[in-house]
Amino acid sequence: MEVCIFRAYEEMSRAAAQEVADVLNAKPNAVLGMATGSTPLGVYQHLVKMHERGEIDFSHVTTFNLDEYVGLPITHPASFRLYLWHRFVSKLPLPLANFHYVNAEKDPHAECARLGKIIQSHPIDVAFIGIGENAHIAFNDPPADFDTEEPYLVVQLDDACRQQQMGEGWFPTLNDVPQQAISMSVRQILKSKSIICTVPDQRKAQAVKDSVQGPITNKTPASILQRHQDMTLYLDPPAASLLK
Ligand code: F6R
Repeated sequence: MEVCIFRAYEEMSRAAAQEVADVLNAKPNAVLGMATGSTPLGVYQHLVKMHERGEIDFSHVTTFNLDEYVGLPITHPASFRLYLWHRFVSKLPLPLANFHYVNAEKDPHAECARLGKIIQSHPIDVAFIGIGENAHIAFNDPPADFDTEEPYLVVQLDDACRQQQMGEGWFPTLNDVPQQAISMSVRQILKSKSIICTVPDQRKAQAVKDSVQGPITNKTPASILQRHQDMTLYLDPPAASLLK
């Protein structure tokens, strides 16, 4: 695992976007795995700007969304489909058929099966992920399932994860945060050729320390990233503050 510490969020976002751009410029039909949430806002802004300046061509790219809440309609402000549509997909010439979002509104198990089939013939070139305050990756909360070969699964969200979502302002109260989600599985994330993981903020410092310097355990889901051959962790100084 390579760890890069940037002076500030803005620099971290620009560097992560540039790394995604480098992959796309080397392989125009690359497949991307894409996180949502507060961290990647800056990266999506940079990717859209790079597209507007003609520095990246998204017209042959395929994307897979990492996760989505069970039962949440696309009209809800916390919907990851809405998030990606507003901030990314609607601003690009990405053919809609190549954008594989997760729709967990009605039948999440059927959705997992649908996506699982598609992703098997589209190996991810670069997964762009974050780490939760509880060290989850995608929505694989501790104790995460490190063994399942299912590409997508229905997961229970733990209290720390649900608190994080409320704390970031996506939901007004804890009761509003769904109890379940669809998540790309840990093994599926690890199958990505490369992984870019961006993590800012003091509130992630303990999760970062445990994930980078602690033992590999499903109680710290992101610790499994230590095993990946091409994994870059992008941090800001507060997130890196507990690293030795
Ligand atoms: C969201 C996702 C999550 C987030 C993580 C960090 O699609 O997969 O694992 O990446 O919870 O979230 P933020 O960036 O909101 O702190």
